[in-house]
Amino acid sequence: MRLLPIIAGILFLGTYSCKTKPTTPVNDQVVEDSSSNLLMQLNDPHSYSKPSECKVSHLDLDVTIDFDHEILVATAKWHLAPHKGNKVIFDTKGLEIEKVRCSDNKTCKYQLGSNDPMMGSALSIDISPETKYVSITYKTKPEAEALMWLQPEQTMGKTQPFMFTQSQAILARTWIPCQDGPGVRFTYNARVKTPKGLLAAMSATNPTTLNDSNIYHFEMKQPIPSYLMALVCGNLQFRSVGSRTGVYAEPELIDAAEYELGKMQTMLEKAEALYGPYLWERYDVVFLPPSFPFGGMENPRLTFATPTIITGDRSLTALIAHEMAHSWSGNLVTNATWNDFWLNEGFTVYFEQRIMEAVYGRDYSEMLALLSYQGLLDELEDFEKDSLINDTRLKLDLEGRNPDDAVSAIAYDKGYLFLRMLEENYGRTAFDAFLKQYFSDNAFKVMTTEKFVDYLNKNLLDTDKELAAKCKVEEWIYGTGLPANCPIIKSEKLAKIDQYINEYFLQANMDIGQIDTTGWTAHEYIYFVANLPQSIGREQMAVVDQYFHFTQSSNAEILGKWFQTAANHQYQQAYGAMEDFLISVGRRKFLTPIYKALCQTPEGWELAQKIYTKARPNYHAVSRKTIENLLEKTQPHSVAQHKGGNG
Ligand code: BES
Ligand code: ZN
Repeated sequence: MRLLPIIAGILFLGTYSCKTKPTTPVNDQVVEDSSSNLLMQLNDPHSYSKPSECKVSHLDLDVTIDFDHEILVATAKWHLAPHKGNKVIFDTKGLEIEKVRCSDNKTCKYQLGSNDPMMGSALSIDISPETKYVSITYKTKPEAEALMWLQPEQTMGKTQPFMFTQSQAILARTWIPCQDGPGVRFTYNARVKTPKGLLAAMSATNPTTLNDSNIYHFEMKQPIPSYLMALVCGNLQFRSVGSRTGVYAEPELIDAAEYELGKMQTMLEKAEALYGPYLWERYDVVFLPPSFPFGGMENPRLTFATPTIITGDRSLTALIAHEMAHSWSGNLVTNATWNDFWLNEGFTVYFEQRIMEAVYGRDYSEMLALLSYQGLLDELEDFEKDSLINDTRLKLDLEGRNPDDAVSAIAYDKGYLFLRMLEENYGRTAFDAFLKQYFSDNAFKVMTTEKFVDYLNKNLLDTDKELAAKCKVEEWIYGTGLPANCPIIKSEKLAKIDQYINEYFLQANMDIGQIDTTGWTAHEYIYFVANLPQSIGREQMAVVDQYFHFTQSSNAEILGKWFQTAANHQYQQAYGAMEDFLISVGRRKFLTPIYKALCQTPEGWELAQKIYTKARPNYHAVSRKTIENLLEKTQPHSVAQHKGGNG
């Protein structure tokens, strides 16, 4: 399932002093946030680190990228905030620690704890209150989950290798020993050595051209949490798109990339006009090979993006608005624990929608909203079927579960609808002023759901308590499903598609040639494919395909939905193209529904298994895990027995 998950309890952060009482139990420490003078509790079950005892403040990272061995050889020098304790603890997973030095001793003692399959091992280093920094020399392993190493033939250019990282949610520890929870922020500098001819870029200040030394320097002056640490290295070119915006891509893709992101500078300006200044100076995007497991990742200053949004018509660039919006919701105001993930994603979807409305108009943004709403309804149904109704709450309790397993539409789209409900009740002017103030009051801090509710009460709801009661905030956040006051999304353009679907498929009173597609945007086509009736048969799919040519579409969203329907109805004519798609694209959002649809029958499961074997080298660890779990869960009885019989 695409259940995301994680953490429990109320984590916290900010710049607090290390004044905890030594007697306080580890997972229940009260610390003072010096920025707000609030007393807060720390509890992050997905990190071994104890930031309330000793917390990092800055990282100097030195990395050599070794493509031959598919490893990073590195030293992480961590500067420590003032502390009284005698230990600093880092999260690590699969790192080979070579040595540890401290500022006051040449080498210092450390222990590496036992390995947990989800959490990794705690690296505990003995320090004194005088210790200013610790310096850890280490190597990663080729199977480090955050890292994806690609052979030249897996890239567009086919001549140079490529590597990238994906740290969210708890994978930063597989390439950097770090205090790996969203509640700990630090600044960083890095020095990265690459093979000749390959450019490196990070979530930091970035080079735009190759140099002769093959050494690149990076600086991130604003404090960020570890899940936003990012590194990419490949045959990359840079193109400026606007005064503060640009794009990196392989040379073969750079023209198309530049065109696709032509509205990015406008998006940034509209975003600032809505919710205040962009505080990260530049906003650039790097297009990765199609193996990237997500659509986009909001690494500060440098969003990592899938090339599957490059269509030639800018129709899928809402994803860029989304990652850009994270520069406020997520990167500035950060979810305190992964239980509060909706604070990152729900606010971001709301902000994304507002950017799209400002750039393309309300009709357009309502089409996007309606498409997402349908996705949410589908997922709600799945949650109910799988008896996972508790996962339909905005505030989650994910203790003991892996946050990387999945991300659900609840955080994104129920979160969005909640904020839209507030906007519709209090009016756009008041709600926009509230949000702008929220981002500025809480910049570079973490937010718990509870602290947000408190802030919302004081700064918006209390202005009209009668209205507040009607909004049912508690039900939205702590209740399951969608409350009755859920906003209604209206799209005339998509209503027209419903009409065609009804008349052509259900009433059967028109010919396919009478479906007039003049003026349809990609979203009308996506909606059409997503809403093909369950009753559609293979013959009818062939007729539709002949008219619309969906099997040959160059739009990945259309392909994703079409292949899902093809697999549901065993429409074999699309299977060749579907297999090519599944082998070349590693984006989990597309893979999961298609594999799921295939796995409904024993023959489909066999095919899925065969395709997965071919595709696996092109999938990142995050996607591999999801698909392997799915194949295992849906394995037909006879196959399971057969395998068991063979030992
Ligand atoms: N931060 C997320 C991706 C993510 C979430 C990675 C959880 C690991 C764990 C990113 O901003 C995101 O939401 N991406 C979406 C974009 C879409 C909603 C426009 C994606 O990848 O599909
Ligand atoms: Zn997001």
